[in-house]
Amino acid sequence: MGQSRTHRLDSLDATHDLGARLGGALGPGDVVLLTGDLGAGKTTLARAVIAKMCGIEDAPSPTYTLVQIYDTADGGELWHADLYRIEEASELEELGLEDAFDFAVCLIEWPDRLGDALPPDRLEILLTGGGTGLESGREARITGFGRWEERLDHI
Ligand SMILES: Nc1ncnc2c1ncn2[C@@H]1O[C@H](COP(=O)(O)OP(=O)(O)OP(=O)(O)O)[C@@H](O)[C@H]1O
Ligand SMILES: [Mg+2]
Repeated sequence: MGQSRTHRLDSLDATHDLGARLGGALGPGDVVLLTGDLGAGKTTLARAVIAKMCGIEDAPSPTYTLVQIYDTADGGELWHADLYRIEEASELEELGLEDAFDFAVCLIEWPDRLGDALPPDRLEILLTGGGTGLESGREARITGFGRWEERLDHI
């Protein structure tokens, strides 16, 4: 089922803080799925994690490259993927993302393209809000599965 926590993201600073806390908690083999509508803030959050873990402030969105790979400060790899443009399972296989699940920090936008190839230990972050209506307050709902259920309080 998973354990959940909700964080309000009233400002870009709040998103940057959440990304920095996440970056402080993530290590090799940790998989984070970033879900939310176009413009919900998935890349913004991923960038904040990359800034914290890799010292790169303006990471490009992997919109067209599908994946960007970075070195983390502790000598590992961080994979930032955007699967929006994936149309076939073969494209997904070519990326090698499922192998990276075992050794890299993986931040994945549009993870619905993974189908049922989800690792049992994972963090799912649903970003909502950001519209212009009354209910425009941005929030991140973070759900931990597997060993992440017990690590949620560290974020
Ligand atoms: N907490 C926030 N407060 C205010 N603005 C924000 C916040 N988070 C993100 N934004 C802004 O929302 C816009 C879209 O963000 P972003 O590119 O991260 O969305 P995305 O979910 O990655 O979209 P896509 O599905 O197209 O990849 C950016 O201009 C960003 O600065
Ligand atoms: Mg994006």
